[in-house]
Amino acid sequence: MPTPVEEIKQRLDLVDFINEHVPLKPAGQNWKARCPFHNERTPSFMVSRERGTWHCFGCGRGGDIFTFLQELEGLEFPEALRVLAKRAGVTLRDYDPKLQTQRTKVLDVLRWVSRYYHQVLLRSKEAAGSRDYLRERGLSDETIEDWQLGYASAQPEATYQALRQKGFADDDIFQAGLTIKKDRGVGYLDRFRGRIMFPIADPQGTTIAFSGRIYEPALEPNRAIPPKYINSPQTIVYNKSLILYGLDKARAAIKKANRAIIVEGYMDCLASHQAGVTNVVATCGTALTRDQVHYLKRFTNALIFAFDQDPAGAQAVLRGVDQALQAQVDVFILTVPHGKDPDELIRRDPAAWGQAITQAKPALDYFFSQAMDKHDLRRVQDKKAVARELLPIIAKVADPIEQAHYLQRLAAAVGVEAAALKRSLSASRPTPRQSAGVTPTASSVDRWRAISERLLALLIHQPQLLSQVAGSLETAILVGDDLQRLYKTLVVWYTEHRFSQRAEIETLVVDLDPDQQERFTILFLLADKEFSAASDATNREEDLLTMFTALKRRWLSQQLYELEQDIRRLEGQTTGDQTAMPTLLDRFQQLTRQLRELN
Ligand code: UTP
Ligand code: MN
Repeated sequence: MPTPVEEIKQRLDLVDFINEHVPLKPAGQNWKARCPFHNERTPSFMVSRERGTWHCFGCGRGGDIFTFLQELEGLEFPEALRVLAKRAGVTLRDYDPKLQTQRTKVLDVLRWVSRYYHQVLLRSKEAAGSRDYLRERGLSDETIEDWQLGYASAQPEATYQALRQKGFADDDIFQAGLTIKKDRGVGYLDRFRGRIMFPIADPQGTTIAFSGRIYEPALEPNRAIPPKYINSPQTIVYNKSLILYGLDKARAAIKKANRAIIVEGYMDCLASHQAGVTNVVATCGTALTRDQVHYLKRFTNALIFAFDQDPAGAQAVLRGVDQALQAQVDVFILTVPHGKDPDELIRRDPAAWGQAITQAKPALDYFFSQAMDKHDLRRVQDKKAVARELLPIIAKVADPIEQAHYLQRLAAAVGVEAAALKRSLSASRPTPRQSAGVTPTASSVDRWRAISERLLALLIHQPQLLSQVAGSLETAILVGDDLQRLYKTLVVWYTEHRFSQRAEIETLVVDLDPDQQERFTILFLLADKEFSAASDATNREEDLLTMFTALKRRWLSQQLYELEQDIRRLEGQTTGDQTAMPTLLDRFQQLTRQLRELN
């Protein structure tokens, strides 16, 4: 049975749908238009009816009918799902009733228990200590109410029994993540015992999980120290890597301020909101994931990461920063003065928090000054260390202009040609990932990669051209492991089937894994964008040759450069083993000849 998403895609025609919003023109087997999501004069927005996908080669956005509507109208996925389900005549409730009711049941349990915990916090005798504790931490009654903080009794089955009395089934309570199965025999225990409860909501404000904080510092000595926070496990309604604490309350403010501040702790998030700075969310104790970054990108393109001085914390924050840099987000780093966490700072001096925010530095500036402070740039060892530290970070900057800027800055600082640094950069460049439709393909980022993609697109468009290159085109001249793999696949197929029609390739693609299929789809779209207009085969051959030559020349020069370095190094050694020299020189001559022949 197909999922609702699959059924909607089957029923709705993507070309018809997009055509209502953006007039499409035929381009080969596909359709094109000027991209509705960025400004452009020549169309690079391509739509495939057959595969139900779209891709813009200008801004790198792409996806299916859902992501199109989401981008266009700024909708969340569930909203887009509702809109499209209605249009397609797909009844969501009727879908996989078992799963649907299981989700509903779990959400019912969570909604009820969230109110229950809250009432226990406000009224129970047992919670007196935690009430005092929260007051001591400076949280107002209003904050406790807004965020529905609660208390879970220390009695091992108190919450479980309360839920049962209310008529909830054991299994639903368990599926909600609230109980754990007893070691031996049957029965359940509460997962959260004697803890202050923080409900975790989805972006629409529905409670989907909890985190429980221990508040009682007075433990018997010799007892193992329990974890400060216990969190809900992954459940059918809770996916940790997607959720940000407080986003339901922060999203409007994030949009308005056009920036999101990311803190680590729940308490930091609460304190900031209470102090009136409401564009703040907390990661749930882990590094910000790629999915979270892309989600936040719907609201803003600027992320401010709060660093407190704790180095263990900084590691997780750094990984989040990486993700954000790769997603072409403007990344800022906010340092909390005096090594406090935001909550402590806010409690001492709320104004200082606002100040720290305005003083947040662009991430790369921050890393530069960190590296410069640590090292003495008059010493060559230190220069190398600085370059080693900063190059991998610069490599992650996806925006080419920004990247060039920082490369030059590093070059100036260590007194090396920017071009030399750029070469080491390609060695430390992360391979671009493309999935979920929203990552820009490197085509907008790297000229050589763009040429490689275009060359492959041409080969797919006119497979008979493969006969001309299959023997002479070295895989290595293509930029990117993924493209190289794709080319190899193509050559293997060609050797086997000797096809001359693009359609034949399309039938073979069906058997690849989804990731590879996605890459081929993008190339098919690119092929129609680039090559569908005229069909003069001789021109195509010239075009192919030009691209091939450009890539090969670049590759040869790169090889020669590296070889030259090796030879110099060997020449510089008065003692070392010189037996490698003839081979190197030989190879050097060979490559030089090849390069000359190209010109
Ligand atoms: P912190 O220890 O900084 O917690 O951990 P905090 O929120 O500032 O709490 P206070 O100020 O000590 O009361 C940061 C985040 O790491 C996760 C939680 O999400 C926490 O908010 N964490 C921490 C856990 O999940 N488990 C733990 O045991 C500790
Ligand atoms: Mn804290």
